[in-house]
Amino acid sequence: MKSLEQLSSTLDSTGQAHLLNFWDSLSSSQQQQLHDQISGIDFEQLGSLLSQESAGGELSALADRAQPPPAITLEQFHDAQAHRHAVELGSDAIASGKVAMVLTAGGQGSRLGFEHPKGMYPIGPVSGCSLYQMIIEKVLARARQFGSSIPLYVMTSPPTHVESSNYLAEHDYFAYPADDFRLFCQGVMPAVDSENKIILAEKHSLFLSPDGHGGAVAALTNSGCLQEMLDRGVEFVFYGQVDNPLIQACDPALIGFHIARQSEMTTQVVRKTDPLQKVGNVVAIDGRVQIIEYSDLPAEYACRQNEDGSLRLWAGSIAVHVFDTAFLDRVSRDAASLPFHRARKKVTFVDRNGEKQIPVEPNATKFERFIFDLLPQARNAIVCEVDPAEGFCAVKNSAPAESETPQHVKDAISRLHRQWIRRAGVRAEDGVAVEISPLFAVDEPQFARRVQKMEPICEPTYLVDPGQDS
Ligand code: UD1
Repeated sequence: MKSLEQLSSTLDSTGQAHLLNFWDSLSSSQQQQLHDQISGIDFEQLGSLLSQESAGGELSALADRAQPPPAITLEQFHDAQAHRHAVELGSDAIASGKVAMVLTAGGQGSRLGFEHPKGMYPIGPVSGCSLYQMIIEKVLARARQFGSSIPLYVMTSPPTHVESSNYLAEHDYFAYPADDFRLFCQGVMPAVDSENKIILAEKHSLFLSPDGHGGAVAALTNSGCLQEMLDRGVEFVFYGQVDNPLIQACDPALIGFHIARQSEMTTQVVRKTDPLQKVGNVVAIDGRVQIIEYSDLPAEYACRQNEDGSLRLWAGSIAVHVFDTAFLDRVSRDAASLPFHRARKKVTFVDRNGEKQIPVEPNATKFERFIFDLLPQARNAIVCEVDPAEGFCAVKNSAPAESETPQHVKDAISRLHRQWIRRAGVRAEDGVAVEISPLFAVDEPQFARRVQKMEPICEPTYLVDPGQDS
């Protein structure tokens, strides 16, 4: 632990001496908090970030060179022979314990008006179960399907860690085997003002925010989770985000295509239905697969069409990836493997007189890393299309005018499950909410095998495993 003198000298030499302006007026516990926060900053990294220009010009040059990515389209993915082969490869990998799942859940539900970790948001259309429960049970169901273990690593952030940890413990980790379940917490970054000064949220604390889901690489490394995966013989990591309850978690076919193509990183995409849809644009630039975030792609590029009127940059990221563990290990050794992105935000701060100020305009630059920036570094990166009705419906907003609302997502779950039921030959009335617990069936083939004589569905129904609490 650095002494106050050492800290003060670092701050002087990096132009951040103002962070100790109120030191003498703080209680000893406040001093300790501030001391710990400042000690946690990597000033070398921050200095190099602050000396770089914002990448605005670079981004439009990138957009200009962006081509549609080479992709395994829906039709190719479901080609009977290729699909069967992929399912075999993926199933073998799961059955032999070579697959782990990383679920990032560092976000809060604030955009949903939900003052808790987003993973706790109730999303089951009939059960009211949380995003955490639905996704954890999907991974558990996959492990049970193959009689194997799938170590599950859930990434929280400092704002979501304690509450997530208590919530998951209270629910007994939704029956996930304790030896296979880990919570790990991502890191934070300070924000700076227009003069590159680190922002104080209080006299005794910095404004710190999660370092983006790209922080997962450093956090997996620092927590020992990555080493644990390597020690357990995990070769493939299935990655997903907690806000998509339709995620086909640890889908054997996707893992199988990854293996068959000897890809180091595979990413799943949907065909965009609107050029300005708020999903990352998966493109190829100079022969390498890359994602340009929707907010970074100028509309004129996003709207370009092919001669037949279809969208040129059609592939939208759903933030589902498969990684080789060895690839994650390799990039984890290079601090520069993931660049930081900047975002301008409004941040309440303490001014030089110690007064709280609420800005009316964005006053702060926040720094975040995005996991998908690993794509161009991966050998044989592949892109696989999925039907959004079967694999993607993320919950993002509460405003009824927006498309990604909780009701929209609940309807999508019901619609998919109603389709499974009908295709299995059972009548299910239109508009009636239905939900199939992942522990009853994790996918349509499993549902078709399990469903026996079933009464027509005319009222809201939650199908659970007979041994499962509902
Ligand atoms: C994100 C993707 C976008 C993709 C879309 C699919 C980014 C920058 N953009 O958009 O390309 O098409 O999802 O739904 O990621 N998270 C953390 N820690 C963090 C930040 C985020 O764990 O520091 C997790 C959150 O829990 C959340 C997820 O990442 O579940 C998505 O983050 P969010 O900032 O909501 O990104 P979107 O704008 O929705």
